Amino acid sequence: MDVSVSQVEIPTVDADLLAVGLCEGEELPAEFALAPGAADAKGGFKKLAMLHPERPTRVLVVGLGKRKELDAERARIAAALAAKEAGKLSATSIAWALPSSEDDAALAEGLVTGTILGAYRFDRFKGKDPDDPEPSVLDSLTLLAPDSVAGTAEAARVCAEAQNRARDLQSLPSNVATPSFLARRAREIASAHPAVSTEVLGREEIAAKKMGGLVAVSQGSTEEPKLIVLRYDGGGSGKTLGLVGKGVTFDTGGISLKTPAGMHEMKMDMSGAAAVLEAVGAIAELGLAIDLVAVVPSTENMPSGTAIKPGDIITQYNGKTVEVNNTDAEGRLILADALAYAIELGAERVVDIATLTGAVMIALGSSYAAVISNDDVLAAEVEQVGRETGELVWRLPLHHEYKALMKGTVADLTNAAAKRKAGTISAASFLEEFVGETPWAHLDIAGTAWDVGRAYTGNDANGFGVRLLTALAQSLAA
Ligand code: BES
Ligand code: MN
Ligand code: ZN
Repeated sequence: MDVSVSQVEIPTVDADLLAVGLCEGEELPAEFALAPGAADAKGGFKKLAMLHPERPTRVLVVGLGKRKELDAERARIAAALAAKEAGKLSATSIAWALPSSEDDAALAEGLVTGTILGAYRFDRFKGKDPDDPEPSVLDSLTLLAPDSVAGTAEAARVCAEAQNRARDLQSLPSNVATPSFLARRAREIASAHPAVSTEVLGREEIAAKKMGGLVAVSQGSTEEPKLIVLRYDGGGSGKTLGLVGKGVTFDTGGISLKTPAGMHEMKMDMSGAAAVLEAVGAIAELGLAIDLVAVVPSTENMPSGTAIKPGDIITQYNGKTVEVNNTDAEGRLILADALAYAIELGAERVVDIATLTGAVMIALGSSYAAVISNDDVLAAEVEQVGRETGELVWRLPLHHEYKALMKGTVADLTNAAAKRKAGTISAASFLEEFVGETPWAHLDIAGTAWDVGRAYTGNDANGFGVRLLTALAQSLAA
């Protein structure tokens, strides 16, 4: 989407639709007070009214609620509602008058993010309507705002568009978005940015490196696994940040097969990978002064005659042995190798992001992702950027008693605890065995990657993590 910041007067604005916000108990701008439709304008949050003044011809009034509650998140929601209205009107351009507030930058970010995410559609597999061969696309946003927000608006555009690309990766079915497809996407990102390089290992190289977790999970599938490494050299003077994303392109559960209901959603078990790949792209596009090493282990998890079986014992990349008592707890096996590898490649602090446990949906629903960390400073940074981006995270604890749940009976570890206790934390406790003393934060996004239902996310894939990881890189850049 083309995003620009302009200071033109409202009557001269050149857009198919102008959106203005109205807070509860406040008056419309004088130029619209007498326009047809003005009597319907309400300040209640999410209330919509269409006005028809002479110039511009269509003005959408979006209720913003109480002024003291007006923040970036409300702006995202308001903007998404306006983008949906623009869609109904087949408008291809929208202008937003920045509501007055104490934090112009926060609202500008919210309006840009909400417009771009709200206008997103995944319809490439739908047949074209013969009467409307080219459905209209909202492709231009003008913010009527002071020039001081131009940088913020541009950064928000970059992040939101990267997030929409992550949504595409999530939504693409597993027969399209294979591990090889994700590897090609990584190469595309690297070729678009001189500071990004990539290296991809295939089945034989993964085996030769003795990445036993990725070998075990992928051995049931004829689809070739890929271990994707992306490096970004931003010339930072701080610590190298490692990003690790779970890239299971389809999770059947393996021999510990899942039930059919909802299994199709497991095409999105690569949501962490999507977030990492597209965040690296956004970070590079923004030119942030940080050095990154991103590792994406990608595979299908399939049952077959060659699949790993419950009780099999494997040796992970760092030498620890694991009894695979449940082949559906596959994410931790591939992340374990990837975390150890990222640290070996130079990550001095590391964040992993994964649709790891159904239990996190029970604990936190779709409003917060879980963050679990061995480092209070890193955890606090992640919580802070979560608040800023609206990609909220809630910290859950680590404790040696949880670690004890993951002890193996005949190997060092088990991948599935015997009792169904603390599913999200016990998974993280397993991962903790592979990071040593390196500051690490684990994000469990199984509840937040899709089916969230905010105005700007919808209920489908929402690219959770792209803005969070990019904002984290921004805040750690030095
Ligand atoms: N990919 C799933 C977790 C998941 C479930 C994500 C639902 C999104 C929606 C993961 O691989 C898994 O199957 N986890 C198991 C672990 C258990 C066997 C210890 C789970 O959560 O049930
Ligand atoms: Mn699974
Ligand atoms: Zn999984």
